[in-house]
Amino acid sequence: MKVALLTGGGDCPGLNAVIRAVVRTIHNAGGECVGLQEGWRGAIEGNARPLHALETDEIIARGGTILGSSRTNPYKKKEESVPKLLESFKRLGLTALVAIGGDDTLGVARRLYEEEQFPVVGVPKTIDNDLSCTDFTFGFDTSINIVMEAVDRLRTTAESHRRVMVIETMGRHAGWIACFAGIATAADFTLIPEEPVNVERMCDVLLARRKAGKPYGLVVVSEGVTLPDAGFITSAAEVDDFGHVKLGGVGDRIADLIQRRTGIETRAVTLGHLQRGGPPSAYDRVLGTRLGIHAARLVINKQFGQMVALRGLKIVSYSLADAVGTMRTLDLEFMREAEEFYKGV
Ligand code: F6P
Repeated sequence: MKVALLTGGGDCPGLNAVIRAVVRTIHNAGGECVGLQEGWRGAIEGNARPLHALETDEIIARGGTILGSSRTNPYKKKEESVPKLLESFKRLGLTALVAIGGDDTLGVARRLYEEEQFPVVGVPKTIDNDLSCTDFTFGFDTSINIVMEAVDRLRTTAESHRRVMVIETMGRHAGWIACFAGIATAADFTLIPEEPVNVERMCDVLLARRKAGKPYGLVVVSEGVTLPDAGFITSAAEVDDFGHVKLGGVGDRIADLIQRRTGIETRAVTLGHLQRGGPPSAYDRVLGTRLGIHAARLVINKQFGQMVALRGLKIVSYSLADAVGTMRTLDLEFMREAEEFYKGV
């Protein structure tokens, strides 16, 4: 049994925990592993390196991915790339692939399984927590902790200067990161892509709290928030291989609106890729490890075309067909709870 692994899409704390767990579980079953470099690009080019259980033992503490990543989409040039990928797989003598990634990476895995009967198992990953069929994705917990630490620091400047600080988080078109970070940092207001922006209400809350004696304000804004007159805000004109725009900049717009409407000095901070960097939290290390073990077990049992997932406390699996293609937006129940703190003073 020779099993390949790849990591695709944005890097994410916990990826190395998954790699380590797959390698260990396959090793325990008498098989060997190789890592395909930089996502589907490495799969197409057949760029592989051996992965040993002992050498990967300590990577659990490292952020990013030791395999490198890319947003390469083999289906962008299907006629050229897919046969090349299948040929590379054969040439390397591989028996299965564990693809670790978000909806794009797993969407490719799904097509390869359905159209080519490719022996693949998927592991869901994203800081955005927007994949269906799984309660949480690893990376999300680390990410909200990074936002929380950043906001705790920004609070001191906001307080000292009697300002409003607007913190723009990642999360694409789902408000998980913003909502959870807003709760964890006692934000005065949070804006998420799932709901229309209510500038008037937000400013009323900020003004009321100032009047009541709170000299500063904190507003958390998800990068995917849409403005009534401008839609969502992009930071670059180009799209990636999967057609995604580059979001970024809505925090500045919101800060401008707040300052003009309330007269309170307001600054915006875009946390950007800081939110994906550094070592994973304990939660993400454990979740990544559990998902990796179960993905390897699916491979050992030849249960291909599946994605491992967290449901409650259990690791389960779903068919890739069921698991990919639908973005899981924020469960608004969390927002209704957060809102207890976004009212009046
Ligand atoms: O999907 C993860 C994510 O970090 C999003 O939150 C963000 O919009 C996007 O990736 C940024 O992508 P890139 O690293 O290509 O700029």
